[in-house]
Amino acid sequence: MSVDDLKQPSQQQRTSPLRIAVLVSGNGSNLQVLIDAMQAGELPIEIVGVISNRDDAYAVTRAQQANIPVAVLSHTESGKRMGIKNFETHASAQLVAWQPDLIVLAGFMRVLSAAFIDNSIATMINLHPALLPAYKGLDTHQRAIQAGERYHGCSIHVVTAELDAGQVLTQGLLNVNPKDTSDSLQTRVQKLEHQLLPWTILLLAKGVLPLNTNKVSAEAKSYLPNLPFKLFLEV
Ligand code: GRF
Repeated sequence: MSVDDLKQPSQQQRTSPLRIAVLVSGNGSNLQVLIDAMQAGELPIEIVGVISNRDDAYAVTRAQQANIPVAVLSHTESGKRMGIKNFETHASAQLVAWQPDLIVLAGFMRVLSAAFIDNSIATMINLHPALLPAYKGLDTHQRAIQAGERYHGCSIHVVTAELDAGQVLTQGLLNVNPKDTSDSLQTRVQKLEHQLLPWTILLLAKGVLPLNTNKVSAEAKSYLPNLPFKLFLEV
């Protein structure tokens, strides 16, 4: 069975690539995976722009090297660090100009306001380094080890006003090894993320996963497995 066989009947066949905007704050290794897959023609996407809330994020360099438009929204013209309201005003205008079908938060480390999320021009998804609903928030690897978890991983969920609480679309799982530390888990979970993110975006681009989770048809609900889709990987 191919991905196309799973497509929701209500979903129009997309002829143009899925337009994606990516919000980042740091290294941008997940952004790089998307850039590489796009350039290799492996994902039917166009990254229409990248927004960073930090001017020193390596993700900015990655986007520039790939000739992707970048908006760095870290400081005001007078040099003052931008508050979240100011950031959101500029980010909204930028997103309206880029017209994405999907907004991906990939290592974006600021909490967005309910107003920004509710008025977003496209569905926003976030990559979270834990198996939600467990371990919302920060220090997820350390907390999973301390709790003696046998399984850990990462989740991609729809962004809602409540932090890390929107519909979970997909998860990547791994076994926690007895020797794992917080650092080793972080490295292993990142490897999972680099597989989970393009896989999830492929499912969204192909219409297997709905861009609007509130609009899944009754027919699709009858044959789709319950969300989240899970990938169990050896990493
Ligand atoms: C990822 O591990 C993600 O789970 C977390 O931030 C990290 C971003 O990594 N939210 P990168 O910037 O994509 O390399």
